[in-house]
Amino acid sequence: MRVLALLDGTLVDPEAPLFRADDLGVMRGDGIFETILVADRKPRELGPHLDRLERSAGLMQMRLPERAAWERVVQAVIDNWPWDTDPQMALKLVCTRGVDGGDGTPNGFAMGMQIGPDTLRKRAEGVAAVTLERGYAPDLMDRAPWLLLSAKTLSYAVNMAAMREAESRGADEVIFTATDGSVLEGPTSTVVLAQGRTLLTTPPSSGILKGTTQGALFRAAEKAGWKTEVAKFPASALFESDGVWLASSVRLVTQVHTIDGTAVKTDADLHAEINRLYESNY
Ligand SMILES: Cc1ncc(COP(=O)(O)O)c(C=O)c1O
Repeated sequence: MRVLALLDGTLVDPEAPLFRADDLGVMRGDGIFETILVADRKPRELGPHLDRLERSAGLMQMRLPERAAWERVVQAVIDNWPWDTDPQMALKLVCTRGVDGGDGTPNGFAMGMQIGPDTLRKRAEGVAAVTLERGYAPDLMDRAPWLLLSAKTLSYAVNMAAMREAESRGADEVIFTATDGSVLEGPTSTVVLAQGRTLLTTPPSSGILKGTTQGALFRAAEKAGWKTEVAKFPASALFESDGVWLASSVRLVTQVHTIDGTAVKTDADLHAEINRLYESNY
């Protein structure tokens, strides 16, 4: 099931070709995207997702259609989704730099998709993760803006290769580490730890994406009296915490039960509390 709409709100056949072969998004992965969860017709964290899309476009120095166009296309997909049979949808916003040698007019669309069975399994059962080197230092982002660290670009081939590496090692997910051994993020997720009544995550200044799901969880946790900390931490902390989660818009807040073949602490009550906190936002 797919619902595809263009930025003027027009619906198009999701199985028909949409992009020219010389579109820079196709040829070079030169574009940006967002993936948003829509539950019962309501998009979650739409403002932060659109803020991040604008930030990514800024880092990429590419033109982006105006925010009102994105809001319109989001609504067009929501209005045409079969909510009676599918109460949740993953909504992808994609924008490329346009055609090679063109005038820089960006090309974009929004596509609603069903939540895949693999994601539902991970939400329900938790995941085994492996730590993999990402190959950059946590202070590189400001020194080397051309690397686009912290931008959500379409160039996810490395992230997907890391996921295949995890699968070849019998795991479901990856936790990337920096050259100093500190924890960065997953290929499509933010790492969150619980230490007592404190939630901890890696700072975006380490060159990672600022997670909207982690942001929503921390917002609710602070209201409920938890402490939250955004600070660099070593991979050893993964094994010494009271819980480890991978957070992202569609997977939600998924518990990690095993890292590099070693069981890490899990607590069903704590996991339920963390998920209640996250859901209390909506
Ligand atoms: C690299 C990376 N980090 C973190 C996240 C989590 O972000 P969000 O919670 O906004 O979905 C994603 C989402 O896909 C991601 O691709």
